[in-house]
Amino acid sequence: MKLLITGFNGFVAGSVIAHSKEKWEIHGIGRSENPVNEPGIFYHNLDLLDEAQFTSLFHEIRPDAVIHTAAMANIDICEKNQEQAEKVNVGVTRLIAGLCKELGSKLVFCSTDTVFDGIKGDYTETDAPHAVNYYADTKIKGEQIVLSASPDNVVARLALVMGLPVIGQGNSFLADTIEKLKKGLQIPFPENEIRTPVDVITLGCALVELAGNRFGGIIHLSGCTKINRYQMALEIATTLGYPRELILRVNSNAMPGRAPRANDASMDNSLAKIILKTPMRTLAEGLNLTLNFKSK
Ligand SMILES: NC(=O)c1ccc[n+]([C@@H]2O[C@H](COP(=O)([O-])OP(=O)(O)OC[C@H]3O[C@@H](n4cnc5c(N)ncnc54)[C@H](OP(=O)(O)O)[C@@H]3O)[C@@H](O)[C@H]2O)c1
Repeated sequence: MKLLITGFNGFVAGSVIAHSKEKWEIHGIGRSENPVNEPGIFYHNLDLLDEAQFTSLFHEIRPDAVIHTAAMANIDICEKNQEQAEKVNVGVTRLIAGLCKELGSKLVFCSTDTVFDGIKGDYTETDAPHAVNYYADTKIKGEQIVLSASPDNVVARLALVMGLPVIGQGNSFLADTIEKLKKGLQIPFPENEIRTPVDVITLGCALVELAGNRFGGIIHLSGCTKINRYQMALEIATTLGYPRELILRVNSNAMPGRAPRANDASMDNSLAKIILKTPMRTLAEGLNLTLNFKSK
């Protein structure tokens, strides 16, 4: 069985690779140096915006499943570069959904808790998304494209992802936080942003499971701890033995020049607990897992 992973060098993809390499023939797409050089893993260096090259590669690989992690994932960059965000987060998703439909590949799309406006909290899969920034807008459009292409496709809404990079690098706030704490730097964390963080190890395992099982539709991949980002950072600093004073309390919606953020984007993970063999974990369990994880 062949699995195609987009965003191969990114943060989430690193864990997806670690959890799929024993059971799948892996094909990865990325734009930089190949972080993995192992038998059974094939790396393709290309820009997903090159439609012709990507289409031809897709026909060559003929994947059984695709985990589409590639995105412009930075909220503020998306807000300032809306045309590019639309091309990457919507246009590429449309292309991939079309190719998956044509060849009968199952598509697992990485969406986000940010699709919600943060007014209600504890969002379930049946709650209606409502964007408060452009990144969220592009992800909602991506979700609609993926769901309408096939009932077998999956929209996996990822909560805030917490963890150390497993392979490659990418967008890990935990790695950045640890670097700053080591240097004794103070770090601001928003108290207004309530989340249900998921650790990157649990997440990678769940995404691979979804690529290989029969579930289709929307599913929330979130942790079991509802917490604001300031409190979360305090818990991380305490666990790692750094002074709590280095963690500063801020309000992200009062910071000038930033795109609006959802306040309470916590998600209910009851469906994931029913559907998946992968257990959903608390923040403490997830932190312990990611700090001690060693890829085989
Ligand atoms: N991390 C989180 O907390 C979080 C939470 C909710 C949802 N998500 C979603 O989860 C997914 C993975 O996030 P992540 O944290 O792993 O992000 P990431 O580390 O930024 O990885 C995204 C990857 O996409 C690649 N990419 C972007 N544009 C591309 C293009 N035109 N062609 C080829 N590759 C391209 C990037 O490649 P380059 O390295 O070459 O730029 C990068 O490696 C994203 O869809 C994100 O929206 C993440």
